[in-house]
Parts: sequence; structure tokens; C-alpha cells
Amino acid sequence: MAEKIHSQYEELKAQINAHNYRYHVLDAPIISDLEYDRLLNELKRIEANHPEWIAPDSPTQRAGSKPADRFEKIRHPASILSLANAFGGDDARAWLERIKKIDDRVEQAKFVVEPKIDGLSVVLHYRDGLFVQGATRGDGEVGEDITSNLRTIRAIPLRIPVNSEQSSVVSVPKYLVVRGEAFIPNKEFDELNRKLEEAGEKTYLNPRNTAAGSLRQLDPQLTASRPLTLLVYQIVYSEGGKVPTSQWEILEYLKALGFPVTDVAKRFDDLDSAIAYTETWAEGRDTLPYEADGMVIKIDDLTLAADLGFTGKDPRGAIAFKFPAREVTTTLNEIGVAVGRTGVLTPFAMLEPVEIGGVVVERATLHNFDFIAEKDIRVGDRVLIKRAGEVIPYVIGPVVDARSGQEKTYQMPTTCPACGQAVEHFEGEVAWYCVNAACPAQLVRNIEHFVSRGTMDITGLGIKIVEQLIETGLVKDVADLFTLNKEQLLTLEGFAEKKAENLLGSLEQAKAQNLNRLLAALGIHGVGEVMAGDLSRNFGNLSALSKASAEELQQIEGVGPNSAESIVDWFAQPVNQNVVKKLKAAGVNPEMQKSEGKMQNGALSGLTFVVTGTLPTLSRDGVKEFIESNGGKVTDSVSKKTSYLVLGENPGSKAEKAKSLGVKILDESELKKMAEGLSL
Ligand code: IVH
Repeated sequence: MAEKIHSQYEELKAQINAHNYRYHVLDAPIISDLEYDRLLNELKRIEANHPEWIAPDSPTQRAGSKPADRFEKIRHPASILSLANAFGGDDARAWLERIKKIDDRVEQAKFVVEPKIDGLSVVLHYRDGLFVQGATRGDGEVGEDITSNLRTIRAIPLRIPVNSEQSSVVSVPKYLVVRGEAFIPNKEFDELNRKLEEAGEKTYLNPRNTAAGSLRQLDPQLTASRPLTLLVYQIVYSEGGKVPTSQWEILEYLKALGFPVTDVAKRFDDLDSAIAYTETWAEGRDTLPYEADGMVIKIDDLTLAADLGFTGKDPRGAIAFKFPAREVTTTLNEIGVAVGRTGVLTPFAMLEPVEIGGVVVERATLHNFDFIAEKDIRVGDRVLIKRAGEVIPYVIGPVVDARSGQEKTYQMPTTCPACGQAVEHFEGEVAWYCVNAACPAQLVRNIEHFVSRGTMDITGLGIKIVEQLIETGLVKDVADLFTLNKEQLLTLEGFAEKKAENLLGSLEQAKAQNLNRLLAALGIHGVGEVMAGDLSRNFGNLSALSKASAEELQQIEGVGPNSAESIVDWFAQPVNQNVVKKLKAAGVNPEMQKSEGKMQNGALSGLTFVVTGTLPTLSRDGVKEFIESNGGKVTDSVSKKTSYLVLGENPGSKAEKAKSLGVKILDESELKKMAEGLSL
């Protein structure tokens, strides 16, 4: 029996690793994230019963190891070399002439061209096909042991070959050491910064430094949260098995083992064609998903390349063909401030227009106000700007030597540039906020959030309509939505009787939404769905909440000092008080039965529920709301602490897990009876 489970376990592990490879290396998944999670949960379940089976190649072992005090040093099995640079075709041809003189086999040489990714060099060790150790480049001889961090990068195979079918085709040396470049793709970098900005946290300066910093974190959990990936291009060392002797075959071989390998590489019979190809990428570099600072031209025959030797740390057999630099200096004319969706104020540089790699740049991000102060960036300064790939152009810093004395130290605004309200700062965040709910810069986004499905759920109010309502002055804050009438709507573009009636109907319905939803809809900094629920149960209505002090708010579980302060602040603003007043006048003033602390008197109080599958009448949000409004708690995963599993149609693996743990199972009607206090 145990043997059978063990072989199922191994099979499942291989299956998950193969899906992981399809997703993170091939970018061609064949199952959904949900299905993947199910497989992974099943694996975790088996491992919980058989911890003795957990091997380092289990996908559950990628994250989660403990933070280290420091990094150990690792001596590389061979030197990790760098490259000499060539700036343009003539430089590259001169390189070829030099090496022709050293070895006449160069006359017949072929060349492989690969992208030179601007990331961080890493060295990965595999013993008997298992990923056992990984290091930074360090000084080229000794690097730092960052194995736990590298494990969190899903593009790194924990076992090679990745697919069991390949093991008969590709043989792996007993000991194999490969080198690659770890990096954060541009899109992921911008997304990461967008989220940080929204949360009021410090944004990262550029993808390369972020990747390097992430890999040199002592806590692997932090590394795991950064969108790192890598491409592998070299075999540094091998023992106990043969590996190819040409660069082109190495790339094919590494790919066959399951490593992520660039698909941009090409092989050429002569240098001029290699240069021509390189130049096409100098033009097209923005279409690469990562920042590349050039292409590497390598002699394909690795025996010949090795025989050519080195100059210093640079092998003669390869050269970095650098793309034109995309850093320029220009004058900082002014510092502007943009107001984001959540009210975050972000400073940006208004520049003397300057061309960087074929694009005229007039604006660049200045990240946040601390950055301006730290770098002592002054209005009128010459500043160094970088435009890299698709990443938003950014200011690197001032050129201090170019100062004339006329430059002015920047004073950050004390009021919002869009509405004039005083700006606010929250403890522990770098961002400054405009907290005025009626600020025109935030209004479109605020209304979008207010009407969305998870909050007031008002249908028929798409972004185009919201924009029109604001432009025409019909809506100046969220409360104005409820006093709109048919005549007004008919003046808008694209509105006829029916459409206007439908919208008025859904606005009317929304007036009956409960306090949870209204609170979450108002977009008070730090107040999400869960906190909105807690506040509703504790205060029962908006008036009571608006009078609460920070101390009182902090009595509620889950409300920390920052959220408490932000709630008090929000209600203290006259503009927000006006919104609340107008909402009440329009009939939007939900009352909720108050409870002491955590809904002691709800029939479901003290019980924890997990929901799986589709229920006959309640939606996902609906059932959550139902349980919570009756004092129960909803969690995502089944554990021994789960009181009941609410089961619907087409359930996932949660049902099996509940059964195996002996968790009681209910259907929707039984849940409702229970909430009414009826015995089942
Ligand atoms: S080859 C002998 N190939 O560029 C092998 N390097 O100084 C020497 N890099 O630090 C390196 N992409 O981290 C090579 N396809 C690629 C590369 C690459 C990025 C980095 C590498 C090194 C630097 C060159």
C-alpha cells in the first residue's frame, strides 16, 4: 500500500515539475492555475503523511526555508569570466583580426550570437541530476551561496532532465555546473512597482538592481516574492559524462535538459552576418521582454575558444557587442506631481526634451519624494536619465559638477495639486496621499471602485460613462450618483430611455446594500473587505463609526494604529463628511445589527467555514457575506480547525481533504438552516 502511494507520489511530483517547466520555461501551460494548485495541494497532503519522502526536488521545497545570518562562500569549479566590449562593427572586426593572428583555425570559425541580458550572473550545481547548490559570481573565483534563494526561482529546474521521457535521450554528467543570467522581466518589474506605489511603499529603481538585491536577500521568502527568472547559456564545469563542445550544441543540450535558454540565439558562418544580426537587435531591443545591454558574439567551437586563452579576465573567444547607451543628461525644468488611483502623489521630472535611442523623452519618474531628497535633485539641475526597454524612463541622479548655482531645492507640495486639500502621510510608508474622496484626479477611479462588483455592485456604469458624468459636472463625488435623474442621463452621449432607466434601477437597488459593502466602497485607506465587515459589526452605522476615536477603533481585532488613524482622518475631512451627509440624504445609510466584538450572538459565531464548488443560489462573495454576517469565519483551505465544508457542484480537492480530515460537510440549505439557529 505504502509502496503504491509512494509511486503515485513520485508520479505526481514529476507531473507537477513538468507543468512548472511548461509554465515558467516554455511559457506554454496546459493546465489552469487552479488545476496546478490542486495537484500541489495533493502533493502537500501526501507529504504531510510521509515527511520522510520529501526530497530536494519536490516543488514544495522551493520557498520556505529559514532566513540565513550570512552567506557562505563557494569556490567556483572554474573561473567565472567576464567579456571584453566592442562598440560597433569595426571594433568587432578588429577583435577577429587579433585572434586570427593567434590561431589560424579562426579563419574557418562559426559564430553564435546571444542576447547579453543585464541581470546577475549565477552559477548552478547539479549532482546526479539534482540541483544542489547555487552561487553568485562574486569575484569570479569565489561567490556567495544563495542556494535557498535560487530555489525559489521557478524557471530553475530542481531536477534535470525535467521530463522523465527525456532521460533516455539526454544523458546528464554526474556533476554539472552551469551559468546563467537571473533577471526580472520588464513587464513584471513595472507591475511590481505599480503595486508598491498603490500600497504607498517605496518603488524599485530599476530591474537589474532589484534582481541583484532580491537574490542577495537573507530571507528566501522575500526572494520568492520577486518575479525573478533566468536564462542559462554556459557549462562551466562537468564531471562523469560528456557534454557538447560547440556553443550552439550547448544551448540545444541545455534546452533539452529543461533549462530556460534564449530563443533569440543564432549561428552564423561569418562575422559580418553575425554583426548584421546583432545590429537588428540594437534596433529591436525594446521588443525583448528584458533589458539587454548588447549581444554576445561567441566563437562556436569551444575547444578553439578555450585554446585562444584570455586577456586578464576576458576570454578571447567571445566579445560583448554593446548597444548604444541609453543614459543621457538633460535639464530638469520642473517637478510635476501626479495623483494615482489610491491618492498616492508621485513626483515626475519635466525635462528639456531629449532623444534616447530614437525616442524623445520629456518626462521621467522620480520615484518618490524621499528619492528627490536623498539624491538632492534640484530644479534646474542637469540630470542623468535612463530609458531601458519598456521600463518607464527614470532619473538616475543629478550631475552635481554641472551646477551653476541657480538650481532650486525642491519643496514637496503640502496640498494636492489637483484639489488643493492638505496631503497626508501614514506611518511606515514613503508615500504621501491626497485623502479627499472628491478629488477630481481620483474621482474616476474612486467611482470605478465604488460601483464595482465586490463593493456597491452598480451595473451600467462603465468607465466611459463615469468620465462623462464627471466632465459634465453632474457627479462631483460618489454621493451625487444617487441623485441623478433621467433627464440628466439623457443628455449624455449614448443614453436612451431604456439605458437610463436601467442605470437608475441599479442605483436604486444599490441603496439597499449593507454597511460592509458601503464601507469597502468608500476607499478609505487600509479598509478592505474584511476590515469593513469588522467595522460594520462593531459600529452598526456610519454615524457611529464617524465618531469613533483611534483608541476605540484599535480595540477591534485586526485594526492596527495605521488603519485606525486613517479612518479617523478620513471622517475628519469636511469633504468626506459632506459625502456621508449627502449619502444619508439620498437614502444610502445602512444599519447593521451591532455586536460586541466579533458577533458573539450570530448563530455561526465561533465556527470556521470553507466553501468549495458552485452553490445553487449564493455566489462566492454572497456566501462569504452570509456566513460573516451571521458571525462565522471563512477561510481558504481546509484544516483540522475547519468546522464545516460548504459543498456545491463540481467541488475541488477541498472536498476530499475535508473527508480525509473528518470535517463535517453541509450544503447551502443546511447552512441557511444553521444560520437561522434551526437544528439540522
Ligand atoms: S558569456 C566566457 N553570455 O554579461 C563566458 N555573458 O561581462 C563569459 N551576460 O557578467 C560570459 N548574457 O553575466 C555571456 N549570453 C551571455 C550573457 C552574458 C549576459 C553577462 C554575464 C557577464 C557579462 C559579461
